Amino acid sequence: MKKLLSVLLAVLMVLALAGCGQKEETPAGGGEAAPETVKIGVAIYQFDDNFMTLYRQNIQKYFDDLNAQGGTQYEVTIVDGKNDVAEQTEQVNTFISQGVDAMIVNLVQTSSPALAQAVEDSGIPTVFINREIADYNYGPKTCYVGADARDSGTYQGQIIFDQENHGDLNGDGVVKYIMIMGDPENSDAQNRTEYSIKYLTDNGVNVECLYQETGMWDQAKGQELVATALNAYGDDIEVVFCNNDGMALGAAQAINAAGRTVGKDIYLVGVDALVECCEMVKAGTMTGTVLNDDQGQATAACESVLKLLAGEEITNKVNYVPYVMVTPANADQYIK
Ligand code: GAL
Repeated sequence: MKKLLSVLLAVLMVLALAGCGQKEETPAGGGEAAPETVKIGVAIYQFDDNFMTLYRQNIQKYFDDLNAQGGTQYEVTIVDGKNDVAEQTEQVNTFISQGVDAMIVNLVQTSSPALAQAVEDSGIPTVFINREIADYNYGPKTCYVGADARDSGTYQGQIIFDQENHGDLNGDGVVKYIMIMGDPENSDAQNRTEYSIKYLTDNGVNVECLYQETGMWDQAKGQELVATALNAYGDDIEVVFCNNDGMALGAAQAINAAGRTVGKDIYLVGVDALVECCEMVKAGTMTGTVLNDDQGQATAACESVLKLLAGEEITNKVNYVPYVMVTPANADQYIK
């Protein structure tokens, strides 16, 4: 009798486990049973960031759309790391101790793998986004979705090179520029700074950097720094490179205030293809930008979450969504 009971118990446990596994199948499966709820914790490095705001809205929308189909319900909690390592560490540890089913993590700090390691140790399926950790070995339940920042820099350089004077507005044989950087800890900031200039020098253009400062991806800081540089170097500045569009918006304000005219006596490039910037590119008040595909990256990240939840192996551990160069020729496409 005792033996029979333990066999029965074992059978029941197997059945229960198989039942649990079902939530890991196709999300929109439907069926008569009450829909399963899957908890997803999303940690964003900072809400106050133009590009990451679009990104997180896209993540929310992806799961809202799935929920509307009536199958598995995804309960998404998005938290603001306020660009503070301690704050984000606490938020991610809270997700882990609450036992969320999956996470999407946009790290505040990529130079230390400590938080990523805590995520690996938790065994919770997690997709890291937007900020790449250099030389990192993703475990079986984690992966990264982003973009190859070298390409965005290369496109910025190409936009300037494609001008008929290759950026040399005053014809003195040297392109004098200023560089407004994002957070220098990020590979996006490092690569954009390096590869934008590399494209010019690889194509035989002489360059001189007059000023390089970090505006931390922020519009107000971008404005302040470009105003300072224009004040110090005046008409010598031919090109303003900004690591992102947020700072380019600030740069445009400073350029206007200094009485300079983009396309006529100065060039200005950014990255992200924010709608405002694409409108400016179309109007000629910004020379060009580069599409950083927030929607494509958010979709890829959410799809990876679903795959990991389904127990599928992700072979492409570092998934790069392509950048696109944006000039007056195609800016319309990105004004939505
Ligand atoms: C970059 C983006 C910036 C900023 C940054 C945050 O990819 O171009 O605007 O959002 O990520 O890490």
